[in-house]
This record gives sequence, structure tokens and C-alpha cells, in this order.
Amino acid sequence: MNDLSGKVALVTGGSRGIGAEIARTLARNGAAVGLTYLGAADHADGVAKDIQADGGRALPIQADNADPEAVRAAVEATVAEFGGFDILVNNAGVFPSGPLDEVTLEDVDRILGIHVRAVFAAAQTAARHMSDGGRIINIGSCLIERLPGPGMTLYALSKSALTGLTKGLARDLGPRGITAVVVDPGPTET
Ligand SMILES: NC(=O)c1ccc[n+]([C@@H]2O[C@H](COP(=O)([O-])OP(=O)(O)OC[C@H]3O[C@@H](n4cnc5c(N)ncnc54)[C@H](OP(=O)(O)O)[C@@H]3O)[C@@H](O)[C@H]2O)c1
Repeated sequence: MNDLSGKVALVTGGSRGIGAEIARTLARNGAAVGLTYLGAADHADGVAKDIQADGGRALPIQADNADPEAVRAAVEATVAEFGGFDILVNNAGVFPSGPLDEVTLEDVDRILGIHVRAVFAAAQTAARHMSDGGRIINIGSCLIERLPGPGMTLYALSKSALTGLTKGLARDLGPRGITAVVVDPGPTET
């Protein structure tokens, strides 16, 4: 089940934390992996070099999730490098927190851009290239279920939106055998 030989994946936010481990695991199972990062080129290069040292294929790509065209370009770059597209992991994210009264509408737009608009743009572009039977995996958060305290309205709002987005993707792409799921991790030391 875990043999991904010949498959092509893209992991957003693959330079550190959960995304880096996802990228490494996909590569270990045989997939060629594109991985995006925001600013940590050294970390992204390090993950790519580790994968290559193990005999895998990896491509670090600078792409800010705040810019949907950059995310679309990251999908295209992965296709161009590896000649196909099978697995999209939308993982890139940030953790905004603070008093409700200090959250600006600009903050709302910025976080929705990174956590939601980018996921839509990546999925739409990926679907155009994806083979039948492809996979879209969106990384949400357990905090959509219960918030343990105040100050996380914006985070919960943006991660909750992934649920509806992903259900729509599953319906739209299901006839092609493409699945779309959300994984909602619990607290993870990254
Ligand atoms: N850690 C947890 O406890 C936890 C729990 C539930 C859900 N999650 C979710 O899991 C995902 C990964 O979290 P993590 O803890 O692994 O985060 P992390 O260690 O802080 O790493 C974040 C990753 O996302 C990238 N990134 C951040 N902003 C970006 C942007 N605007 N455009 C492109 N890439 C961007 C970072 O790139 P650079 O390295 O270049 O900065 C890095 O690769 C997030 O979606 C987060 O919400 C985490």
C-alpha cells in the first residue's frame, strides 16, 4: 500500500516541522517530491539533500502561500521537473494568536490567503495535471473541534474553512478517483 514509486508529490511548507517529515516519508516510499518554503531556503535545501542522499528525488521551491500565483507556479514547476502529478499535500501554515480586538481585517485577509485561498489555488491547478486516482491532503488542526482558550479565532476560522473546501474537492474530483481529505493534527512539537 505504501509503495509510491513513480508518483509525484508536492508538499507546501516542506522545509520544516510536519511538512518536512511528510516530504521525507513520501520520498522514502518512492515518490519524487517538490517542497515549498517561504524563507528558510537552507532548511528546504537540507530536506532535499537528505532525500537525494537516500536515493530519492526532491525539488525545493520558494513559494509564498500568500501569493496564489506562486503556489500555482510551484505545482507547475513540480510537473515540469518530474513529469506528472499525483499527490498534493497542503501543509504550509502559520499560527496567529492574540486578543480579538487587535486582529485587523488585513490579518483576516492574510491568514485566509495563506490557509485557504492558497489551498484552493494549489488544488485547482494540481487537478488539471493530476492523474486519475490522485490524492489531495490538506493539513487542518484539531483546534477546529475545540478551542482550549481565547485568542485563536482567526486560526480556527481559517482551518475550519478547509473542511468545506475539502468536501467540495472530494465531490468535484471523486468521479476521477481523486480523493481529498483533511488531516487535523493535535499539538505537535515542531
Ligand atoms: N505543530 C502543531 O502543533 C500543529 C497542530 C495542528 C496543525 N498544525 C498545522 O500543521 C501545519 C504545519 O505546522 P508546523 O508546526 O509543522 O509548522 P512550522 O514548523 O512552523 O513550519 C511551517 C512550514 O510552513 C512554511 N510556511 C509558513 N508560512 C508560509 C507561507 N506564507 N508560504 C509558504 N510556506 C509557508 C514554512 O516555511 P519556512 O521554513 O520557509 O518558514 C515551514 O515550511 C500547519 O498548517 C499548521 O497549522 C500544526
